[in-house]
Amino acid sequence: MEKFESFLYSLLGVFALIVLVHAQDQTGFISIDCGAETSSYTGETGLTYVWDANFIDTGINKNVTVGYQTESQRQNLWNLRSFPEGIRNCYNVKVKSGTRYLIRASFLYGNYDLQTKVPEFDLHLGANMWDSVKLGNESTIITKEIIHSPSSNYTYVCLVNTGFGTPFISALEFRPLKNTTYTTEYGSLILFARLGVYSSANPIIRFPDDVYDRIWFPYSFSKWDQINTSLSINSNDFQIPQILMMSAATPNNASQPLNFSIDTKDTASKLYVYLHFAELEVLLPNQSRQFNISINGRFLYGPVVPNYLAATTAYSTSVLSGEQGRYEFSIFKSEKSTLPPILNAVEFYIVKQLLQSETDQIDVDAIKNIKSMYKRENWQGDPCAPKSYVWDGLNCSYDDFNPPRIISLDLSNNNLTGTVPQFLSQLKFLSVLNLTGNNLTGSVPIELIERSKKDDDTEVAVKMLSESSQQGYDQFEAEVKLLLTVHHRNLTELYGYCDEGNHVGLIYECMANGNLKEHLRAESNEDVLSWEGRLRIAVESAQGLEYLHYGCKPPRVHRDVKSANILLDNKFQAKIADFGLIRSFPGDGGSHVSTVVAGTFGYLDPEYFESNRLTAKSDVYSFGVVLLEIITNRSVITNTNENSHIKQWVGFMLAQGDIKNIVDQRLHGDFDSNSAWKIVELAMHCVSQTSIRRPTMSHVVIVLKDCLAMEMARTDGHGNEPKDQHERFSVNLNSELAPTAR
Ligand SMILES: *[C@@H]1O[C@H](CO)[C@@H](O)[C@H](O)[C@H]1NC(C)=O
Ligand SMILES: *[C@@H]1O[C@H](CO)[C@@H](O)[C@H](O)[C@H]1NC(C)=O
Ligand SMILES: *[C@@H]1O[C@H](CO)[C@@H](O)[C@H](O)[C@H]1NC(C)=O
Ligand SMILES: *[C@@H]1O[C@H](CO)[C@@H](O)[C@H](O)[C@H]1NC(C)=O
Ligand SMILES: *[C@@H]1O[C@H](CO)[C@@H](O)[C@H](O)[C@H]1NC(C)=O
Ligand SMILES: *[C@@H]1O[C@H](CO)[C@@H](O)[C@H](O)[C@H]1NC(C)=O
Ligand SMILES: *[C@@H]1O[C@H](CO)[C@@H](O)[C@H](O)[C@H]1NC(C)=O
Ligand SMILES: *[C@@H]1O[C@H](CO)[C@@H](O)[C@H](O)[C@H]1NC(C)=O
Ligand SMILES: *[C@@H]1O[C@H](CO)[C@@H](O)[C@H](O)[C@H]1NC(C)=O
Ligand SMILES: *[C@@H]1O[C@H](CO)[C@@H](O)[C@H](O)[C@H]1NC(C)=O
Ligand SMILES: *[C@@H]1O[C@H](CO)[C@@H](O)[C@H](O)[C@H]1NC(C)=O
Ligand SMILES: *[C@@H]1O[C@H](CO)[C@@H](O)[C@H](O)[C@H]1NC(C)=O
Repeated sequence: MEKFESFLYSLLGVFALIVLVHAQDQTGFISIDCGAETSSYTGETGLTYVWDANFIDTGINKNVTVGYQTESQRQNLWNLRSFPEGIRNCYNVKVKSGTRYLIRASFLYGNYDLQTKVPEFDLHLGANMWDSVKLGNESTIITKEIIHSPSSNYTYVCLVNTGFGTPFISALEFRPLKNTTYTTEYGSLILFARLGVYSSANPIIRFPDDVYDRIWFPYSFSKWDQINTSLSINSNDFQIPQILMMSAATPNNASQPLNFSIDTKDTASKLYVYLHFAELEVLLPNQSRQFNISINGRFLYGPVVPNYLAATTAYSTSVLSGEQGRYEFSIFKSEKSTLPPILNAVEFYIVKQLLQSETDQIDVDAIKNIKSMYKRENWQGDPCAPKSYVWDGLNCSYDDFNPPRIISLDLSNNNLTGTVPQFLSQLKFLSVLNLTGNNLTGSVPIELIERSKKDDDTEVAVKMLSESSQQGYDQFEAEVKLLLTVHHRNLTELYGYCDEGNHVGLIYECMANGNLKEHLRAESNEDVLSWEGRLRIAVESAQGLEYLHYGCKPPRVHRDVKSANILLDNKFQAKIADFGLIRSFPGDGGSHVSTVVAGTFGYLDPEYFESNRLTAKSDVYSFGVVLLEIITNRSVITNTNENSHIKQWVGFMLAQGDIKNIVDQRLHGDFDSNSAWKIVELAMHCVSQTSIRRPTMSHVVIVLKDCLAMEMARTDGHGNEPKDQHERFSVNLNSELAPTAR
């Protein structure tokens, strides 16, 4: 059994003075005559309608055929705006955020296109589906009404082509309501029916009788009688029109209830109901009128005792559920009551949850700038939402808790000219930008760098890759997108990439101390890395690779492990960088993928080179070469003919039993020789010709940690800590090619 104690009963003081409601002004009303050819006019209701030119820039004006003009009383239905182009076309209306509006869209086909075929299409409100528009015939007038509080200072009403004819719209109206009325627990309210028990020469009641311009229809029932008063009724916040409140229904058999029902035809529907009452008769001392309300036979609220000539509204403050979408109401007199129940007016609304949130305001403002610079007709409504109507060229992120954000922007082949605009910096979450096929000048990467510096106080490095340096461009792109989600302490954060046709810029977090190769080759003695420092760098970079091989899903092979791709931060902590050649591979251990061989000469796994079979062991080989560099500080390839590869040279020295001369002479023997033996052995193990003989990265990490422990034991943990060096650069613009957009 549902609880109905929250069913409210709101009255206005009985002793309040009767207030005559005079014609109200139209403050806050927005009345748009879609397709109108005059900028404004006063319609038959006394309301001023304006043309829609300031609210939309797509679609064409059309007139309904003359016969339908005369048939329809409303001038705002005589013309319309039709949308033969584009899937989604939107009105953009400035509103006040937080204000509850009655929003009404009206449609009269009137054979405007002489096709005598009524279309069917969808109506969206902002990022959400509002309703489908299904016109019965050429003269059917459809109005869709929703009571909704926009969360931003503008709102979109969109006409969406669903493949059943050209969408159009005749009129669009916004009416601000009092914020104490039509409140809901959740969701907005779609009008189901709004009825009054009255008789009038003009059957439809709206503005100026209704100060909120609600539209009322008369309702009567053979078993009901009507009672009237000529006195005016004191309103409550709902401001129900006088003409409605001055008449009430009552059963013609005074001992019967007032029964009425609705069928929403939607078993999942949730309802809000508003019942308006006013006592119109002067009761004698021995008379009383009080009644209860039930729904589907269950008691809902009571007793209601209407006040003489004052409006009382009974309404649900939480949703009501029906039975198979049916709601049967009964208003029946209580035992004490000598008089039958009454009812003046009733409204039924169905709850509509508009769950999809609109795109983040900052992104919307930025992308609107782009739109204004480079006219894109098909950019309509909310940029990211609903997901199925995301703007052409955009990709957005969606989750349940945050508004969508723009993460990629494809402006390729748009004939764009001039300098690359600043707006890019406002799209905070943008990680992919495609400017291929334009004639832009200026530097895109620098724009992005400045954005990152400004907004997250993070330094970024941009690395430009030329197309020739990589294969399978699309795969690469897909991989980079995936990598944007891979995070490990020993991997350089990839913030994004930008695409400028032939050139791809990868945007990394900035590593203040450059790369390992530079440090090993450092000229000055001050910069010589200590043995412990070298072991730490080895451990940390090995952990980064271990994570790529075993920790991330799917596992990945870096394919370009080399000392130049091991970056050092301001504390000389190491991270693996440059994912330009990265590949995912199916499983663990023995599995492999066949690829076009890529990598850097000298570090390239010979087995992979010959077989095209790529496994994680290829990285182990390259890492072995890096270890040899760390140990010896020699170039990977030297020009001498004999033992020209570092591995051959070390092998040769080992054969001579000359370990002291293998290790970098600049350390002057300041290292634990056991750890030196161990790491040399490990490195040679890694560079085995066949992959089966090579250890896994996990094994490499274990051995390296042992080596580090040995060295730390020797120095008692107080080995020469690397000096905190001054930051040499804040932006590493490592561009092999000019970072110029084209
Ligand atoms: C619609 O009718 C008005 C007035 O009759 C006329 O001025 C206007 O040109 C017509 N518009 C179109 C698109 O036919
Ligand atoms: C259009 O449909 C309405 C009912 O929805 C009907 O009353 C009217 O006669 C129809 N008009 C035409 C021209 O068929
Ligand atoms: C809407 O505009 C008002 C006044 O200009 C401002 O106070 C409010 O923050 C704005 N709302 C949103 C959601 O931007
Ligand atoms: C309604 O608006 C008034 C000001 O116009 C404000 O003081 C009040 O808090 C609002 N009430 C609700 C329920 O939003
Ligand atoms: C109320 O007014 C309606 C329409 O004018 C009329 O038909 C009805 O008889 C009146 N009822 C009473 C009790 O006067
Ligand atoms: C009025 O309703 C009562 C109770 O349902 C019934 O007994 C009575 O016959 C009805 N009177 C008329 C006139 O129909
Ligand atoms: C109420 O009182 C009036 C006279 O004041 C009388 O005519 C009428 O019959 C009484 N009605 C009832 C139901 O007692
Ligand atoms: C009115 O509705 C109530 C509750 O649904 C039901 O018990 C009663 O029979 C109905 N009365 C009439 C006259 O339909
Ligand atoms: C770009 O310009 C060419 C030649 O002027 C034209 O054919 C093409 O349609 C234009 N593309 C866009 C997107 O404007
Ligand atoms: C950039 O746009 C061009 C042309 O539309 C396309 O060929 C290329 O794949 C796009 N690049 C990315 C990274 O989306
Ligand atoms: C690109 O723009 C420059 C100057 O803005 C112009 O000289 C050049 O002809 C343009 N190139 C193309 C292919 O449109
Ligand atoms: C790499 O990882 C190790 C341990 O997982 C950590 O101690 C070290 O600080 C990391 N390096 C960086 C640069 O974060």
